[in-house]
Formats: sequence, C-alpha cells, structure tokens
Amino acid sequence: MNPKSKERVTGNLQERAQQMIVEGETLESVLAELYPQVEGVVGLSDVMGDREVRIYLEKSNEVLGALGYTEHGSRHHSITAYRSYWILCQLGYSPREQELAAVAGYMHDIGGVVNRQMHEQSGAIISGSILKRLGMETEERIECMMAIGNHDEKTGEPVTPITAALILADKSDVHRSRVRNPSMISFDIHDRVNYAVLNTHLFVNADEDKIKLSITIDTKISHVMEYFEIFLTRMIISRKAARKLGLSFILEINDVEMS
Ligand SMILES: [Fe+2]
Ligand SMILES: [Fe+2]
Repeated sequence: MNPKSKERVTGNLQERAQQMIVEGETLESVLAELYPQVEGVVGLSDVMGDREVRIYLEKSNEVLGALGYTEHGSRHHSITAYRSYWILCQLGYSPREQELAAVAGYMHDIGGVVNRQMHEQSGAIISGSILKRLGMETEERIECMMAIGNHDEKTGEPVTPITAALILADKSDVHRSRVRNPSMISFDIHDRVNYAVLNTHLFVNADEDKIKLSITIDTKISHVMEYFEIFLTRMIISRKAARKLGLSFILEINDVEMS
C-alpha cells in the first residue's frame, strides 16, 4: 500500500468514526479495524477481546447507572480510546504510543466497578493487573496505569503525553446519547447539558499547535452557561493537557471560539 492510499483509508476511517460519534454509536468496529490482532504483541485487540475486561466494563457501567451517571459503556470507552489514539497520531507520536493511548482510553473507567470515588486510581491498579496477565511489558503497562490513574479532573494531572491525550479524549465526550433517561432532563443539569449536545468534534492542528473541541448545543434545551457550570474543571484540565502536548486548547460552542 503506498502512503497516499494509506492516508485515504485513515481519512475514510476518521470520517466514519466522526459520523458514528454524531449518531451516538460505539466505535468498537472502528477500533477492531484500526488494531487487528498481531501475533506476539499485546495490544488493543487483546484488551478488547478479553472476557475479564468486558465484564469489568459492563459492571462499571451498571454501577454508574445505579448512581445516576450518564452512559459509561462501550460507546464512551470506545470513543475515548479512538480519540486518544487520534490525538497522538495527528501529533506524530510513535504508532506504539498511539496504541497504548488507545488501550488506556479503552480501560480508563474500569475502576467504576469498585467505587466512583477514586475510580481512576482503582482503575489503574485493575488495568495494570489485567495487562500483566495479558503479557504486556512492564514499561508499557506503567504508561497505561499512569494515564488511567491521572485521567480524572479531581485528582489527576497530565503527567505524560499519553495521559494528556486520554484526558482530552475523555473530557470531549459529551453527547445526548449518553443520557440514560431523557425524562430527567428538566431535573438533572448533567442530563440536560448532555442531552443538549448534538455534536462534538475534536480538531488537532499540528501546524498551528492547536487543539479545538467544537460543540454544538441546542440552546432550547440547555443554556451555554450551564455547560460551564458543570464542566469548568474539565475544561481546565483539558487546557493543561493540551499544554503538555505543546498545544493551545480552544473551546468552540455553536461556532463561537473561546480560547
Ligand atoms: Fe473517569
Ligand atoms: Fe470517562
């Protein structure tokens, strides 16, 4: 395959992924295409195919549902994995770093099965033990653990480029399809803001050292101020994460840029 045709395939995949994000679909099939099984290398396909990972993630999503949180299932962790990979890919990080970011993105909320509080830290430990069982090298395992352990805005910091990519990917995922019970939107601000978000798009401009999160909000459902009311800390850690990658972070809401 010549480089041009590879670029076209990647471009098509990106377009398809973006369309699936808008429609609120899981990106598992995109990730499977992006990372097919490679003999002798522990990667995303091994993680996605692992029964223990699947059960942990399903149960974690159930626990968060019982606590009233938005969807944290296959859709959320596959989008986070995809965008973590995509950010480092656009910035020219090595293919292995891109894949480790995708692995960390895929597993990042696994700790929700223990408790929402400190789920980033329990998730790092759980992921570390699973990746060890799968045979991942110690140094690579630690990269994933650092990223997962630091992804939450309450306790985390973008300590590495993989962590920074995971933070930006995770915090970018706001969408109406994450609302489990739309009848709650008049009572719950998190449900209302998520339900109002019709589209999110993450643009990386490596030439201008910028990353832009573009959000389309239906202001008949939620005011833009409500977005800031609940997501200010997420935007602050996103800005720090962008800085770690040598980028400035721009938030665009309904075509108005805020930097
Ligand atoms: Fe999380
Ligand atoms: Fe998350």
